[in-house]
This record gives sequence, C-alpha cells and structure tokens, in this order.
Amino acid sequence: MGDFMSEDRMRAVTEAAADIAGALPGFKPRALVVLGSGLGAVVDALDRRAEVPFADVRGMAASAVAGHSGRFVMAYAGDVPVLVSVGRLHLYEGHPSDTVVLPLRAARAMGASVLVATNAAGGVSDRVRPGDLVMLSDHLNLTGSSPLLGPNLESLGERFPGMADAYSARLRTLASERASELGLELVEGVYAGVLGPQYETPAEVRALVAAGADVVGMSTVHEVIAAVHAGMECLAFSAVTNMAGTAGGHEEVLETGARTAERLGVLLTDILARL
Ligand code: HPA
Repeated sequence: MGDFMSEDRMRAVTEAAADIAGALPGFKPRALVVLGSGLGAVVDALDRRAEVPFADVRGMAASAVAGHSGRFVMAYAGDVPVLVSVGRLHLYEGHPSDTVVLPLRAARAMGASVLVATNAAGGVSDRVRPGDLVMLSDHLNLTGSSPLLGPNLESLGERFPGMADAYSARLRTLASERASELGLELVEGVYAGVLGPQYETPAEVRALVAAGADVVGMSTVHEVIAAVHAGMECLAFSAVTNMAGTAGGHEEVLETGARTAERLGVLLTDILARL
C-alpha cells in the first residue's frame, strides 16, 4: 500500500468506474457480465438503459477485433441491475493484464459482487461438441501471466488469493437448476485459458486433453483471477464454436457463437434476475 505504482493502478480503476457511471448516475450493478466473441446479442434480451463505448472510458482502448463492438451497457434483468461488457480486451491484442481486467475492477468499484464471464471456446475433450454450452467448473491458467503481477493492490484483496473455489458452487447450482427448468442442456467443464492469438497445434491439443481441459480459449481466466482476488463470486460459460485444432477460423467462431448466443441469452437473463 502507498507505493506509487499501486496508486496509479487504483486511480485507473477509479477513473474507469467514473467514466462508466457517468452514463447513468446512481446505477449500482450487482454483476458484471462479459460477453465474448459472437455472443454480443445476449445483451438484446435485457432491459437496456444506457451505453458507453470502450473508447470513452479512460484506460480502455477501442477494441479492434471483429465481433467485438466494445461497449458497456447498463441494463436490468428483471429488477437486477447489471453492467454488461459487450466484447472485451484480450492479452493477444497486446493489452496488459491490468487493462484486460479494468472493466472487472471498475464494476467492483461501482458495487458489483458477481462476475458472469462468457466466451467462445474450442472443444478439447470428448465431453463437448460444437454448439454446446459449457459451464466452467474450474480453469487452467496457461497464459503464463496473471493480473495480480506487481505490488499487491491491498485495497482489493490479499497477496496470495486461493483459487480452490474460483467458480461459485452456489451460482453453479443455481445455473444448473435454471437450465434444467428451461430445458437447456448444460455441460460442466474445465477451461484452459491460453494467450493466443494462434489456434492450437495438434500436440498442444493432446497436451490440453492430458491436462484435463474440456475447452480452450483466449480469455476469461485473468478476469476470474482478478474477481476472486477482489472477493467476487464468479460464474462462467463457454460457447463451443469448433473442436480445438480444427478451427475453421474466426468467421466459424463468430457464426457458431451467434447460434449458441440465443440459448445463452435465455439462460443468462433468467439467472441474472435471480442474483
Ligand atoms: N482455440 C482457442 N480459442 C478459441 C478456439 C480454439 O479452438 N475457438 C474459439 N476460441
């Protein structure tokens, strides 16, 4: 605490939170919902009240990846206020981890206590197929990095946070119950978070299978680590867009993601309203 580096990083969080909050003064989100590649349409199912493009938020750059329009939406799911990040910034774009998790920390500063992360992912194990909706039970952080590098941000959390219960058992139970009530098939699985942007080699896919991964993607793990550090409950979903190692390219990812987005939207709207 008190060192200049930590002060600068916390100021960035306060500034980002102020820029987002300015769009709808008094809005206090219960959750941050991050929508990944091809999943942006999920926000259409919510009652939207205000929007802020990433480019208008200090510390965020306009996200340039196709399929990421890059904006924050303040919305309601029933009576529950949620901040939705439509798109996200990725490590593979060259953004530092502090920037990647800035929306999460800003949402925390605005009062959010839950992170709901979504992503497009490649299927790794034989438990998943393209088109599946996977609820994450755990992850492998294979990015070689962490959002907690550097002096610890003491005002957010402890130096060595435990990751044993990163994905909230309470929220997973709620999600499983709601999915079966809604007649939606939901597989539970382990997400391997890699740096990208290149897709996996056959040897890497075999290594991921051996390591116990069910799906692989290029996001989410840093957000979850930063959320756990800050004492938030996490829930995360992957839309399986292809089998890893056989990606037809970013277009296929966006197309299959868009088809799964419909089911994810139904499930998320239902869950968020119960937070
Ligand atoms: N690998 C990594 N990330 C991905 C994939 C994949 O096959 N598909 C969508 N995101």
